[in-house]
Amino acid sequence: MQRIAVLTSGGDAPGMNAALRAVVRVGCSMGMEIYGVQWGYAGLIDDDMRLMDERSVSGIIQHGGTILGTSRSSEFRNESGQLKAINVMAARGIEGLIVIGGEGSLHGALELHKRGVPVVGVPASIDNDMNGTEFAIGVDTALNTAVEAVDRIRETASSHHRSFIIEVMGRNSGYLALATAVATGAEYALVPEVEVDPEEVLKLIMEADKKGKTHFIVIAAEGSPLKAVQLKDYIDRKSARFYETRLTVLGHLQRGGSPTAFDRLLSTRLGARAVQTIHDGISGKMISWWGGGIAVRDLAEIDRPRPTVEDYLLRLSMVLDR
Ligand code: F6P
Repeated sequence: MQRIAVLTSGGDAPGMNAALRAVVRVGCSMGMEIYGVQWGYAGLIDDDMRLMDERSVSGIIQHGGTILGTSRSSEFRNESGQLKAINVMAARGIEGLIVIGGEGSLHGALELHKRGVPVVGVPASIDNDMNGTEFAIGVDTALNTAVEAVDRIRETASSHHRSFIIEVMGRNSGYLALATAVATGAEYALVPEVEVDPEEVLKLIMEADKKGKTHFIVIAAEGSPLKAVQLKDYIDRKSARFYETRLTVLGHLQRGGSPTAFDRLLSTRLGARAVQTIHDGISGKMISWWGGGIAVRDLAEIDRPRPTVEDYLLRLSMVLDR
């Protein structure tokens, strides 16, 4: 396969640029023509793309975001959008597509594969909620960003004898919240995977106060059934005499920023393998991090649910944070 396109799609993730760089440079080294599609699937439908060369990906490995731009295209979710995209590729003689993105984006890639378009997916999402890969591009950076933020908040929390509820992203996955909580020694992790009665958290706060703890930090996943703001209201109503409570929502802070060395390496290896795979005429695969190395796995795995928090880590966190 000699002429392909590459796009980034869904929420941006630090490391997408590094993956794109590897796709373009490894592809060029094999004599391929690589078209960079702007704005994800929306750009594919609109034929918004440009031929890339080694120089068009210079100086990007250290930058978060994506130089191609990204989107969540509602048009592409429908058959008509997918057919438009296929026609655009055919008109340009583009034989295959590399999709760098999260669960929804790789699901879109699978739909194209089912319609006969050669596709390879590269998992990129800070949520780490995708089946078929143990790590996605951007997770490590987002985690490090959250850890740094919590370390800072903890200092002010201790100084004021306060409790803080810190909401992190992750959609319906508790991965980021749990990993942040364990890595910062937070007192509690609120995750979507576990139903929690706010009274339970309050009891832990009271215990912590008795033990002489100077702060109580809750890391709350945005997708938890008990929302960070609800927990704050509950604590405010019931426990004024223990700790004064503040709420911080980290939000999109976690999506930006320079990728960590781990993410740069992961992205480079996934991108390089993706372009080699499609060059060899293989389709319907995702390039994963699996068992400590790179693996080529079925894209269809994306449709199967994945346990998003590790049981052992969850149990361990409950021991460590006391
Ligand atoms: O999927 C990545 C993610 O950052 C989620 O953690 C979050 O729920 C969502 O995207 C936010 O999306 P948007 O940037 O469209 O508001």
